[in-house]
Amino acid sequence: MNITEPNPRIAISVTVNGVHHEREVEPRLLLVQLIREELNLTGTHIGCDTTYCGACTVLLNGDPVKSCTVLAVQADGGDIRTVEGLERDGELHPLQRAFSEHHGLQCGFCTPGMLMSSCALLDRNPNPTDYEIRKGIQGNLCRCTGYQNIFKAISAAAEDMRKRS
Ligand code: FES
Ligand code: FES
Repeated sequence: MNITEPNPRIAISVTVNGVHHEREVEPRLLLVQLIREELNLTGTHIGCDTTYCGACTVLLNGDPVKSCTVLAVQADGGDIRTVEGLERDGELHPLQRAFSEHHGLQCGFCTPGMLMSSCALLDRNPNPTDYEIRKGIQGNLCRCTGYQNIFKAISAAAEDMRKRS
């Protein structure tokens, strides 16, 4: 081991919202830091840094992960989707529209994580029950809304997506 090099860097590559990126990163770099600080995708929020709030949730290979809990090197080779990747060709994702129409947000700090957890839920289960919606976002905290309008928004988005498919 070369002790003159205290911060060895590791080459990684990730695809984020369909765009391929290659970086050399410190082994301790968190995935959320890679996303926000290296790739400038600041839609992913940091609320606690301790795996508690879910504001940093992104999809890694289709699974929701709290990106403050994943090292960037663990995501090497991965396919990542962030909140910036929800809209397509200038059109909001049905979840984004439903959160807006049903007042599923107030300050909006939790919203990117809520949207990504909901997106993972609806990808797996297009017709979730109320209980399944609650389970789907159980790792995401909101200090503003009381959750009821978030549940309504996810349910409305699910219905909208079923009609379109
Ligand atoms: S910032 Fe990751 S769970 Fe709160
Ligand atoms: S809208 Fe403010 S934390 Fe959820």
